[in-house]
Amino acid sequence: MPNPIRATITATSKYLPEKVMTNHDLEKVVETNHEWIVSRTGISERRVVEDGQATADMCTRVAEEILLKRAITADDIDVIIIGTVTPDMLFPSTAALVQDAIGASNAWGYDLSGACSGFLFALENGVNYIETGRYKKVLVLGADTMTSILDYEDRTTCILFGDGAGGVLLEPSSDGDGIIDSLLFTDGSGGKHLCMPGGGSLNPATVETVKQRMHYIKQDGKKVFKVAVKGMADISLDILKKHDLSGKDIKLFIPHQANKRIIDASVDRLGLSPDQVLINIDKYANTTGATIPIGLAEAVEEGRIQTGDYILLAAFGAGFTWGSTLIRWGHSK
Ligand SMILES: CC(C)(COP(=O)(O)OP(=O)(O)OC[C@H]1O[C@@H](n2cnc3c(N)ncnc32)[C@H](O)[C@@H]1OP(=O)(O)O)[C@@H](O)C(=O)NCCC(=O)NCCS
Repeated sequence: MPNPIRATITATSKYLPEKVMTNHDLEKVVETNHEWIVSRTGISERRVVEDGQATADMCTRVAEEILLKRAITADDIDVIIIGTVTPDMLFPSTAALVQDAIGASNAWGYDLSGACSGFLFALENGVNYIETGRYKKVLVLGADTMTSILDYEDRTTCILFGDGAGGVLLEPSSDGDGIIDSLLFTDGSGGKHLCMPGGGSLNPATVETVKQRMHYIKQDGKKVFKVAVKGMADISLDILKKHDLSGKDIKLFIPHQANKRIIDASVDRLGLSPDQVLINIDKYANTTGATIPIGLAEAVEEGRIQTGDYILLAAFGAGFTWGSTLIRWGHSK
């Protein structure tokens, strides 16, 4: 018998730092040019945190706006889950910092490392907490300060990423609306193709690891590109098929924003028209765990999602990790 309780998104929010770094700004830092970046990635500019600002600060702003929109207090929050690979520090968790900053005195929480799929992984955690009936209000956030781990001497990676945060509030629903299903995967054999080798227990920070630039993102772009194109399209089709749906049933597809060409390949395979796809990579670049919740918040702000609409989310990232989530939208702020 299907569970009568579903988790539904009742509020969304996003935060992007004010500071803009354009492709032309990057031309002054590495040997690159605006035309190359736009044609290969679709990115024109990205946001960058101020000195002293980091992931918890962006998350706190998102959490505070969600509380305001939903007209509840921080004490009402039961759990805070944050998908991030750029926590303020290894511990305490970003969730703990946010719990303190907003004063969520009844909440517990943790960070989850799923890279670009981190928000979908975190969402699945939150959904399960709601569906058991044990928790009523779960904050699920995705946030990354990618500029803190970018090597501005490596033109193949530093042009791709930006900073940002987004999030949702999950609550129980009994009218059938909400998160219908998720398909999630990890294939750790792809780990070496996209990683940050330094700073963990294997290569703790030393003068030598810093000299070798091990505290920055390392990526085999071509390899990641190929696997991402197939992974994100396949998983999107799989979840639709599982629920007897096709592209035409989807009001809005909100894919992870890593490269416009990767998005276009998924859109083609799903047979979607441009008005069925959210694309904001031109403004924000790849904000890793934040792309999907930022996209959700933007879609709600722009009135692109209404109650009863089918929304499809899809992600691919380091790990490798990938996944898709199908939602029938409920009532949200
Ligand atoms: C990184 C990426 C944009 C590179 O695009 P590409 O079309 O594969 O480009 P290539 O790596 O083949 O490079 C082509 C040429 O451009 C050059 N180039 C690389 N980066 C450049 C830059 N920023 N500016 C100008 N030229 C650049 C290369 O050196 C190469 O020159 P060459 O032909 O003389 O050797 C692309 O591989 C990609 O997006 N991969 C996936 C990345 C990703 O999504 N990561 C996150 C996963 S969630």
